[in-house]
Amino acid sequence: KKHISIGLMGLGTVGTGVFKLLNDGVEEDLVLGEHNQYSIEKVLVAHPEKSREVEVKEKEITDDPDELLDDPGLDVIIELIGGIKPARQYISRALAAEKHVITANKDLLARHGDKLLEKAAENGVKLLFSASVAGGVPVIENLKRITGTDRVDEIAGVINGTTNYILSQMAREEADFDNVLARAQKLGYAESDPSSDITGRDAVYKLTILASLVFGGWVDWDKIPRTGIENISSADHHCAKALGYSFKLFALARRHKKGLELRVQPTMIPRDKLLADVDGVNNAVKIVSPLHDNLTFAGPGAGRFPTANTVVNDLLSLYEEDLEAGLEKLQEKALNDSSSLLDRD
Ligand code: HSE
Repeated sequence: KKHISIGLMGLGTVGTGVFKLLNDGVEEDLVLGEHNQYSIEKVLVAHPEKSREVEVKEKEITDDPDELLDDPGLDVIIELIGGIKPARQYISRALAAEKHVITANKDLLARHGDKLLEKAAENGVKLLFSASVAGGVPVIENLKRITGTDRVDEIAGVINGTTNYILSQMAREEADFDNVLARAQKLGYAESDPSSDITGRDAVYKLTILASLVFGGWVDWDKIPRTGIENISSADHHCAKALGYSFKLFALARRHKKGLELRVQPTMIPRDKLLADVDGVNNAVKIVSPLHDNLTFAGPGAGRFPTANTVVNDLLSLYEEDLEAGLEKLQEKALNDSSSLLDRD
């Protein structure tokens, strides 16, 4: 088996999750096991001396990006720093050096995804970014399947966990905005600058990525109309509730004969609709297409392990046979364990 050497950039919420998943696992049977040919050889952080939740060997941690980007031994760079600068330059250099890149960086992809994808293609490597939209919910992964034979006409839903958490908590507890935001930050859902979440910009970036993937042409994120949730008060929630509605930060991308309709805005959703039940940090994405009619994916849209799992799955998909090996193992296990599962009292 080939050994895969990884350079990890960033040890924040998701970076730490990826580090844990690729090293010790999270629970005993969640260690990557047969996938342990993957190893993180170098970690880039801003302050190597800082104490952290995970232990990184001194010779493996650095604040010098060249140690990763100029290392011909690294096969894959996982970029989890976020933001445009310096991530854009790091990713460009990694692709030019023929390293695969995995990232969750929606800001960067929304703004420069077309150029970066071109660069990856020119250099014969892949740029994967499943974790950039909806955290642990497999949306981008499934778009690839659906568009194999089908045409996506609409993508709609809740694609920002922080605002959904804030709106849900405010509606439930009639709690105050700042308190709930502080909680979302503590739980690791919010961006380092939470204004991106609250003003709807984060959702616009994600909508740009999804729309660009299915509508054939990189969408200009800056032209998408957006309204944030900063002006929704407890009184608004109170009224919505009394009328049988819930507020959601709703994102929509729809194909029309004459062009695309795109927007992100707080929307009152009737309580009997599926989307109204998407609570807390969860995201839900509805995909409308002629062959599937209507598919909805829902689950944790942010947070350490759901997002880290998506990043690691992108890594496994680079070496596709590993995913297949995982599936075979599941099938084998299903056959061997079926009786013991039923016998359990
Ligand atoms: N801040 C983002 C959110 C993180 O709340 O959805 C996941 O992209």
